[in-house]
Amino acid sequence: MNSKQIAGEKACEYIQDGMIVGLGTGSTAYYMIQKLGDRVAEGLNVTGVVTSKATEELARERNIPLMDLNDVTEIDLTIDGADEVDAEFCGIKGGGGALLFEKLVAHASKKSIWVVGEDKVVATLGTFPLPVEVVPFGYKQVLRQLEYRGYQPLLRHHEDGSIYLTDSQNYILDLQMSEITNPKELNAWLNNLPGVVENGLFLNYASTLVIGFSDGSVEVRDK
Ligand code: 5RP
Repeated sequence: MNSKQIAGEKACEYIQDGMIVGLGTGSTAYYMIQKLGDRVAEGLNVTGVVTSKATEELARERNIPLMDLNDVTEIDLTIDGADEVDAEFCGIKGGGGALLFEKLVAHASKKSIWVVGEDKVVATLGTFPLPVEVVPFGYKQVLRQLEYRGYQPLLRHHEDGSIYLTDSQNYILDLQMSEITNPKELNAWLNNLPGVVENGLFLNYASTLVIGFSDGSVEVRDK
């Protein structure tokens, strides 16, 4: 078992009968959803709220009942991955491009658990490029302002060279910052720029980390 599988499956244990559960996106959340599918097949009664089209597809394959975010007042628990997380449980998300829906679901959740491999835990955020979702119209205006600040934005592309589109048909600019010294200030500045839909800084969402290690062990950290 790899560290992602260990973390994803462990976090699934937090899901209890009757819960409304936010289903994260990515290769770690994948294992949680697979395990949840097994539990649903055994009779667990849960309703999922997805964070991406990819997760919706996976949840449907595993017969996990789903509800639209519009139709829930509150989500009991969301389990999602992260690209980086620091000692304050602040993180970068959106490597898989689902940051907007992930933040909407996290915001509606009473509790968020992040499932990560040990390599995602860092002292300072910023080695992982920070995704910023922007509307395609006039996006170069945003790009120039980010360049001016020295953030070295790169428009995300697919391997075949086509521009990456989010589930909302927006673009992603990945910022090469190496170190984010004031995430709170950066988060506010980014989300105040016209054209920016959301950014990948998740500053006050996770309250529990489930960390998988390559030696097969798992650690749960509560904030
Ligand atoms: C998707 C995300 C993912 O949670 C994040 O990229 C981690 O992915 P993985 O578990 O595949 O490493 O934010 O938008």
